[in-house]
Amino acid sequence: MFLPQLEKKAGGGEKLAVLTCYDASFARLLTACGVDILLVGDSLGMTVQGHATTLPVTLEQMAYHTEAVARGATEAGGGAFIVADLPFGSYQQSPEQAFASAARLLAAGANMVKLEGGAVLARTVEFLVRRGVPVCAHLGLLPQSVNTTGYRAQARDAKAAEQLASDAVELEAVGARMLVLESIPLVLAEEVTQRLAIPTIGIGAGPHCNGQVLVLQDILGLTPRPPRFAKDFMAGAGSLEGGIRAFVQAVKTGAFPGPEHAF
Ligand code: KIV
Repeated sequence: MFLPQLEKKAGGGEKLAVLTCYDASFARLLTACGVDILLVGDSLGMTVQGHATTLPVTLEQMAYHTEAVARGATEAGGGAFIVADLPFGSYQQSPEQAFASAARLLAAGANMVKLEGGAVLARTVEFLVRRGVPVCAHLGLLPQSVNTTGYRAQARDAKAAEQLASDAVELEAVGARMLVLESIPLVLAEEVTQRLAIPTIGIGAGPHCNGQVLVLQDILGLTPRPPRFAKDFMAGAGSLEGGIRAFVQAVKTGAFPGPEHAF
């Protein structure tokens, strides 16, 4: 699937179901279950590699996993849109560095790259977009900034909320085509979603975003201490396919996230 088809879905009011995906087997299964976006997240540093944070993940490791996911999704007949994370240290130095890193991930099979940060990255986002790289921005809790913020909910006071909303507007203005909102109050996510034309994808950001993303291992009940906003969809599902289809259905119908998954 290419970006205009995805944007048409979101523009028509359909909620986008997004899961992280790191290998070909799950790419086949997730695609067959109707997941709209496969996010090759740098969360693989934790889920696959066993690190405590996403920080050790390298660009070459992201390219390796993106290639595997792209092969699996193609085998399943396409259909899913692939977003790959630019890992820590692969884009912050300069727009040129970001372009070289993004080009590696697009060549590996990504349809879009994601980077973490606000207006400070506006020039980089614009540089990428003007050179044909679709960009997803990521605001709120930024796992690559864990050494500064910890894994805590963000934008909880009026000043920080205002800053986040203004960052979102600026990133859209310079060409970002999607925005992940992580661990922010649901009223702020609602406001940002209403102000922007691009789709917002929430994780711990309430029900008003245009789509929802979760880490695959969290919905499969494989995470020892999952975040409060996640949900184990394997309970009563009977099979991996059942659990993944239950997630897709819950997102599409608006049943997930419920009030217990937001703040
Ligand atoms: O790497 C990742 O899994 C992510 C999600 C938490 C959105 O960026």
